[in-house]
Amino acid sequence: MSKTALLTGAAGKVGSYAIGALSRRGMEVVATDVRSDGIPTDIRFEECDLTDASAVTRLVARVKPDVVVHCAAIVAPVSYAEPELAEAVNLGGTEHLIFATKRHAPDAFFVFVSSYAAFGPCSPENPVRRSTDPCSPDDNYGLQKLTGESWLRHSGLRQCSLRLGAVMDLRNLMPDHPSYRPFVFMVSLDQPEHGVDVRDAARAIASAAAQQPDGHLLLIGGDQSWKVTARQLRGEVFGAIGMAMPPEKAFRPSPELSTRDGWFYECWMDEKYSEQMLGFQRISRAAYMDELRSRSRVRKVALSPFRPFVSRALAAASPYTGKNAIEPGATLWDDISRVYELPPDVARHRSSSPPPPSPFV
Ligand SMILES: NC(=O)c1ccc[n+]([C@@H]2O[C@H](COP(=O)([O-])OP(=O)(O)OC[C@H]3O[C@@H](n4cnc5c(N)ncnc54)[C@H](O)[C@@H]3O)[C@@H](O)[C@H]2O)c1
Repeated sequence: MSKTALLTGAAGKVGSYAIGALSRRGMEVVATDVRSDGIPTDIRFEECDLTDASAVTRLVARVKPDVVVHCAAIVAPVSYAEPELAEAVNLGGTEHLIFATKRHAPDAFFVFVSSYAAFGPCSPENPVRRSTDPCSPDDNYGLQKLTGESWLRHSGLRQCSLRLGAVMDLRNLMPDHPSYRPFVFMVSLDQPEHGVDVRDAARAIASAAAQQPDGHLLLIGGDQSWKVTARQLRGEVFGAIGMAMPPEKAFRPSPELSTRDGWFYECWMDEKYSEQMLGFQRISRAAYMDELRSRSRVRKVALSPFRPFVSRALAAASPYTGKNAIEPGATLWDDISRVYELPPDVARHRSSSPPPPSPFV
């Protein structure tokens, strides 16, 4: 008999691909989200807001899943612009789902889709991270992901967490939320980044749901070719879609190499063990860029007369140039607090406080 997989965040970037990947593994997918756009009509959809504890309990009791795949989240930089929502979904929603699973599907295997944000800031001087490395996130998103992993580990459920790198989707290069436009410029161009095609990330998730590596923390990034700097990755993406890279001065200047402060959480993960276990890497960076170039061909020709205008309009979103430019702060979180206008108490409380204690011990 096929297994039932309850997939949260099913309408999102990763979740929408995970539906197909889980189905191809022979699982019966029950998709849940607060919205249903893009979810195939032949997939059972259950609308549920994860911040509503009793709705989550009813959902899990109804579905009685064999596997829970928890993809829903408020991701960075939306988590920076909307810190209360991020806390409600990333902590509250995760807690409700773990509680409901313990109560109504205690034998289910729980896959938590986490992020390399959990590691905390990473300078290019020491860019490689392993799953056993210590973590010290300095932003709300990383802290919430690390907390979710830890709650799950102590929940008594059979479980694993997958820390995903920068997920690249040909269909969706920059999501609509307004927080993304300034953020493009807030990551220094020397930042190490580890990309992964969304189809490979979905394959890793489905493989974990099928193989159920209990107790594991797995690092999910693309093959060696995906370990690059932000300069290289952004430069190639801009080039492939026919746009000029904005000028260097529009980006946050690179901080001192010898400090973690001021760097973003992106790093190069040692993903060899995860690849051996889950066998998910199929798409190299060159193959991704080729596909992006060929998909963008028509648009590129149509755009070419407007190239200078489009580049200028994009660069105008930089927080570091123009009339209201800010001076880069000592940490990236300083800049985040100013660009997204976080009240100081919210900013401090949401970032650097110790993780909330586990409600499951
Ligand atoms: N996109 C990346 O580059 C990236 C990198 C590392 C890790 N991840 C992780 O992968 C997972 C999926 O990310 P994504 O890029 O698909 O994000 P996304 O924003 O595209 O999708 C998240 C989904 O969660 C849903 N959601 C939000 N609030 C909800 C609520 N209260 N109740 C129910 N559903 C709710 C949204 O509607 C959305 O469909 C997340 O856990 C994220 O932390 C993503």
